[in-house]
Amino acid sequence: MVIKQSAEFLNDINQRYFNRGLSADFLAILAKLETYNNPKYFEGVDIILSRYRQAGLGITELSPHFVFELAEGLPRNTFLDSKAPFIPPITTPDRHMRIDQLIASLPVPSGTRPCLLDLGCGFPPITTVEAAERLSNWNVIGVDPSFYPYLVTNNHGYYGCFDGQENLRFMWSDALHRKVTLQNSADEITKIREDIVSAAKKLFAKFKTDKRTDEIEIEGHHLFCNPFKLYTRPNVTFMTGKIGSVEIDNIAVARLFNVSVYYDETFRLQTLDWISKILKEGGMFFCGTDWIKGLSSAYFTYKKADGVLNEVSFSFSIDCLYPLRPWIFFSMHRSYAEKDTLIRYLKILREDKKFINAFDSRFVKLVEEHGLGKKDPQSNRWLPLTQSLDLAEFNNSALEINELLEKEGYVDQAVLALRSHGIKAECNAVNLIEVKS
Ligand SMILES: C[S@@+](CC[C@H](N)C(=O)[O-])C[C@H]1O[C@@H](n2cnc3c(N)ncnc32)[C@H](O)[C@@H]1O
Repeated sequence: MVIKQSAEFLNDINQRYFNRGLSADFLAILAKLETYNNPKYFEGVDIILSRYRQAGLGITELSPHFVFELAEGLPRNTFLDSKAPFIPPITTPDRHMRIDQLIASLPVPSGTRPCLLDLGCGFPPITTVEAAERLSNWNVIGVDPSFYPYLVTNNHGYYGCFDGQENLRFMWSDALHRKVTLQNSADEITKIREDIVSAAKKLFAKFKTDKRTDEIEIEGHHLFCNPFKLYTRPNVTFMTGKIGSVEIDNIAVARLFNVSVYYDETFRLQTLDWISKILKEGGMFFCGTDWIKGLSSAYFTYKKADGVLNEVSFSFSIDCLYPLRPWIFFSMHRSYAEKDTLIRYLKILREDKKFINAFDSRFVKLVEEHGLGKKDPQSNRWLPLTQSLDLAEFNNSALEINELLEKEGYVDQAVLALRSHGIKAECNAVNLIEVKS
């Protein structure tokens, strides 16, 4: 893609993907991309929108949340602008809840303690600890190259990871009051970053004079030295390292979530090759993306049989059919096996008019009832938001809507629709649409 100036880029995507139909409000939100002055964001937005269109989604499905996240979230979540671009250790509680449930349903030979490898687990390693708590008869190993010796937190749910030279390497938030819409988050984030860095200076100074403790508090800010002690559990081990570089074997299940989207096809193939060596016979590998409690899930399942790792299935969650946020379409590289596969099935389902009309009208009604947005009955397009929402409200509503869609049988209907196109689909043990390879 030829990189353009912002105004030209917006014109271009408006023309190419929406037949010049983007409203002035949506264009005003997207104009924010201008301020980042980074061609990589244009490329990221273009990749997302081209997949959005390929999946059969158009202007009438384009929600203000989706547009807002394109403009604001891409810089916040991808760190493409950092001087030395790195893969952020972003994670969140309950992210792999359904994968944990799937693993819990696997047979475990009596007298054995199988090993789960949580690859690229992120920091703090919340998902690894949750897996260890949910799978008490398993041993769990969390592996990541970005484990940091110092963690600084504030009273509002933000935290900074500091390296051995006391430099801030990464800041993130488990703050559920963080606004997801209608705010200038870049300014706020800059202020919080400055606050954490200046608090850290005081905390490190105090730590040097008082070495008796490895947890220091000053005015609501905490410094944890060796933060891993917060995540110690009897069945958990942590290892610093990358795929291919950690000495490990005899793994019953490995998972790699929200990591491969940052890499290319060569990395994917090298990963599969390494996984086939470290898995025990009959072992499984789950690889893909997800968000809290199985929302926005899309992943491959592999199984090792007769020494060979075989692709078994591809699974995705029902909310992928009408994404309110762009992340299921994000990857750093344009050609990417997981996304291509997801889009293939979304396109089939979105072209199945009988199924999709019923699904869309129920989904829109639920979104409106939950206060996540409103459509203009005349144009059938989403109207701009009139009030700000925080992350907790957004997540809760998205989860409730998903639960209702599942209860009302839309997963089964999607499965039947896929089968009517000759695809071997079923609803898996954790209510995701699963297509057999
Ligand atoms: C977005 S986080 C995802 C964390 C967690 N798996 C989750 O789903 O919440 C991506 C993580 O991948 C790690 N990572 C990047 N390259 C890796 C590699 N080659 N091998 C293992 N982990 C890697 C990063 O350090 C980062 O913590």
